[in-house]
Amino acid sequence: MAKKNKFETNAIHVGNKPDASTGSVSPPINLTSTFAQDGIGKNKGFDYSRGTNPTRERLEKNIASLEGGYDAIAFSSGMAATTALFQSLKQSDHVIISRNVYGGTYRMTTQILSNHGLKFDFVDTTNTQNIKDAIKPETKWVFIETPTNPMLEITDIKAVSQICQDHDIKFAVDNTFMSPYGQRPLDHGADCVMHSSTKFIGGHSDVLGGVLVAKDKELAERLHFVQKSGGAIPSPFDAWLLLRSVKTLSMRVQKASDNAMVIAKYFDSHSKISKTIYPGLGSHPEHSVAQSQQINSHGDIIYGSMVSVVFNSKNEMDNFISKINLFTLAESLGGVESLMSVPYFMTHADVPEEVKAEMNLVPELLRLAVGIEHIDDLIADIDHALS
Ligand SMILES: Cc1ncc(COP(=O)(O)O)c(C=O)c1O
Repeated sequence: MAKKNKFETNAIHVGNKPDASTGSVSPPINLTSTFAQDGIGKNKGFDYSRGTNPTRERLEKNIASLEGGYDAIAFSSGMAATTALFQSLKQSDHVIISRNVYGGTYRMTTQILSNHGLKFDFVDTTNTQNIKDAIKPETKWVFIETPTNPMLEITDIKAVSQICQDHDIKFAVDNTFMSPYGQRPLDHGADCVMHSSTKFIGGHSDVLGGVLVAKDKELAERLHFVQKSGGAIPSPFDAWLLLRSVKTLSMRVQKASDNAMVIAKYFDSHSKISKTIYPGLGSHPEHSVAQSQQINSHGDIIYGSMVSVVFNSKNEMDNFISKINLFTLAESLGGVESLMSVPYFMTHADVPEEVKAEMNLVPELLRLAVGIEHIDDLIADIDHALS
């Protein structure tokens, strides 16, 4: 089924076969830590839920089909997934990471994993020459985020994958901001995709999760081994919530992205806004790269639902935040409801001042995670809050 059907069909059917013993159309939640064995070494494919669990396995098969990977490996959060990827490395191994990466990834690599002998270099990957320049004999992975959070910088996935192939380096993409519906990095040559499934895959701001999708068997087995050994797995209930939510992923992501385009254009023409950052605007420096790789399951270009706006002053941004009703001030994104955050003081609080300055991340930047409410209501609310 995974091969012949299209994205929307796979999202609903892969991993969702009715329960064999009862016929329950909604798959069961296998809330169990352990499994009865018929004899020593004889089981029905499951022995202990840290290793494998039927509900989690259903989720993993589903996500793997959506990204076009060999297998997926599910975790309890996006950070647990990223950490597991790096835990598959050895002391002194070197990783090149997008400079403008999610703040938690920066914190984990610079303040924890680097204490265990792994080496990380942060470069502006929008210019792929910077990746070439940072490669060392010990470089094992290039890890990019595209678009990045919150500057929405876009890296050319195909170009990076070519560099990695030329140098025998593995290549991973944090695809959280686009979801598998909006971008499929494995199709462009990546070896691994990472998601914070807390975001679009979950889609309702009610569950945390993370997932790695491996292109080939060897990497999948290595990552399953880290998953089983470390144990940062989602509960069967969380796996079931994600499996249910992913069925509507395509519609949610498309609608939120359509809303975001209208909102970005509105902000772009407003006098209280000094800059609107959105990949769908012709002014975005990597607009054409977005057009080449952000393609939905119908073959159409999609720009995503994240919009960052820089206000003329912090005071004006504070006024806007206090007046707006339909956007809730909260970290996270990818839910059906619209959220907003001020990354300088919230998600990126741990990023050093000089790095924020390098990224042009200013205190007046507001990041909007546009939801799927009616666009007329969102625009009316923004209009009122700006007035
Ligand atoms: C791009 C990106 N990657 C990774 C993460 C981490 O995911 P989680 O919060 O599920 O651990 C986030 C969370 O905001 C994110 O935005």
